[in-house]
Amino acid sequence: MKGSGKTILVTGGAGYIATHCIVKLLDQDYDIVALDNFSNSVRGPPGELPPSLSRIQEMTGKTITFYEVDLCDKSSLRNAMGKHLFDCIIHFGAFKSVSNSFVQYLKYYSNNVVGTCNLLEIMNEMKIEKFVYSSSCTVYGVPQFLPLTENHPLGTPTSPYGFTKLVTEEMMRGLSIFNKDLGFILLRYFNPVGAHPSGIIGEDPLGVPGNLMPFIAQVAVGRREKLQIFGQDWPTPDGTCIRDYIHVMDLAEGHVNAVNKVLESGFSGLKAYNLARGNGESVLDIVRAFEKASGKRIPYEIAKRRPGDVAQLFSACDLAKEELDWEAKLTLDDMCRDMWTWQSQNPKGYLTLKKD
Ligand code: WQD
Repeated sequence: MKGSGKTILVTGGAGYIATHCIVKLLDQDYDIVALDNFSNSVRGPPGELPPSLSRIQEMTGKTITFYEVDLCDKSSLRNAMGKHLFDCIIHFGAFKSVSNSFVQYLKYYSNNVVGTCNLLEIMNEMKIEKFVYSSSCTVYGVPQFLPLTENHPLGTPTSPYGFTKLVTEEMMRGLSIFNKDLGFILLRYFNPVGAHPSGIIGEDPLGVPGNLMPFIAQVAVGRREKLQIFGQDWPTPDGTCIRDYIHVMDLAEGHVNAVNKVLESGFSGLKAYNLARGNGESVLDIVRAFEKASGKRIPYEIAKRRPGDVAQLFSACDLAKEELDWEAKLTLDDMCRDMWTWQSQNPKGYLTLKKD
């Protein structure tokens, strides 16, 4: 297998996207060392793995090494990383709520930018040369054309969160110019949703979900009363915002292909890929699709627009298909079905009592 004998460091490793990627990386026989500070994931009992990772161990029969580490604590980070020899880093660990970043602007900078800086510094100390980065379509700002492509100008992000992704991408671009031994792949996500089809792992944000799909799922399972739709006066067919939703399992496949590519001996420099499905779907489309998948009605009311939102964001997917040999295959119905399997089996997320 491609991953045999290779070790990957996964930051944010207990979180939603990372856990789904770890399942796929373990399938390819990569050894995984995960770090998390539980800022947006559920901690396990003292001295035990977080539930998201312990469930992956049960599911795959493979072992994951885990450290509770905050990327902003450089000495703890250096101490944990120093115990291993890494072939590649996948960096997920960041705050990611567009709306929350307006409220905690500088906390987003200190966490997302300083944390990434610390990681890159220790990567350099340990002579790790390959890096896959969880970036975001928000680096494009307000689209000048649609569908977006990777050569769309890196605009003015519409949120402090978006600026932290833009700034960190530029740090990596600079490093790749001044050190030709390094290889970076930036994966610009659109809207990852859904869950592993088994329902054993899924999306379980702490507190009130900022994102649409987990909020809808929590309404369906009775944890939330109703959905607030942020505006029905957007310049779109039904007045609600359009986004490019992609199944988290497709996204995970994209990460495996990116890791395999960045580890190819000849790879150096920096490449960015949009990981998307190329379909634009509105908020109301998502509500209807989830009602169909769950058989539950999703009550909603129209609220005012949310700061940082744009009317439409969706992407062409040619470059990832051509260069990563990757394309999204799963449909919106698959996303809603799998999200509902997870949420209905785990009404309180990972805090749901473990199945006996
Ligand atoms: C989607 C649509 C909201 C919640 C996400 C990630 C971000 C980045 C891009 C990876 C918007 C509407 C939402 C609600 C609503 N991805 N909405 N009521 O803002 O596109 O950003 O994708 O980096 O990190 O957060 O996703 O799910 O928050 O919103 O009406 O309760 O749903 O206005 O139009 P967004 P989202």
